[in-house]
Amino acid sequence: MPISPQELITNLGDLPPLPQVAAQVLRIAADPDASTDELQKVIGTDQALSAQILKIANSAMFGMVREVTTLTQAIMTLGFSTIKSIVIASSAKNLYNRGAAGLQERLMWEHALVSAIAGRAYARALRFPRTEEVFLAALMHDIGKSVLALKYPDRYGTLMRSVYNDHADGLTLELDTFGFDHAMVGEALLHSWNIASSIEQAARWHHDPIQAPPDYRSMVAIVALGNQLALSQNIGIGRVESLATATEEALEILGIDQAVLESHSEMAMEALERDKSLISDF
Ligand SMILES: [Fe+2]
Ligand SMILES: [Fe+2]
Repeated sequence: MPISPQELITNLGDLPPLPQVAAQVLRIAADPDASTDELQKVIGTDQALSAQILKIANSAMFGMVREVTTLTQAIMTLGFSTIKSIVIASSAKNLYNRGAAGLQERLMWEHALVSAIAGRAYARALRFPRTEEVFLAALMHDIGKSVLALKYPDRYGTLMRSVYNDHADGLTLELDTFGFDHAMVGEALLHSWNIASSIEQAARWHHDPIQAPPDYRSMVAIVALGNQLALSQNIGIGRVESLATATEEALEILGIDQAVLESHSEMAMEALERDKSLISDF
């Protein structure tokens, strides 16, 4: 029997905070009266983030003709919502990197990015209106794993190794070991960060999208498909077979069959090919 969310928080203790710059950027991006100037000032305090934004502004992903050399230019070119995505992505990257040992950290980050790119491609193919939301939600879906790895480096390291080497089922092992799984932990973390309910719901229900609240069900289903595509390409830790139920539920929620999924998956693979540079650069 899984423990309650309150018990979970008590067990985990302090959760990693959302980086301060990220919190400020999210606040500004949500403010309709905010100016480019304000956003530029906040981002400018973080060297690494500024460099990352410039790099992405110039990456193949946005097909820029002219080179973007200043932060202000980058913000104007990319727009507030893309900047917001980059900032969340960069916070996620730091956490994924901190929360996993050795070889696994790169794999977890690549899994997150590939799920996000694939998720967004599925969203477009399905004409789902909020593609950027899907991208972010898919990027964060396994963030609970990082928290577990941060909190319990030895036990979670051992657990991940047996998922990787012996193809054990990760979710079951987590529940047996801790009394909660990475989906519950991810929800708790994102709730404390207060970013967006959709991202929170995707973290919580990506393995069981049918349980998501009705308003979020389609979005979570698309995230589940992105997750599945990433694992099917062996990008991540775990076996794609362990996602069979999630995929079935996703198809049911989205009202599509296997044949439609396959044609959408081809588009997602093309998107991955196109955005490959983003994965190696970021
Ligand atoms: Fe997961
Ligand atoms: Fe995943």
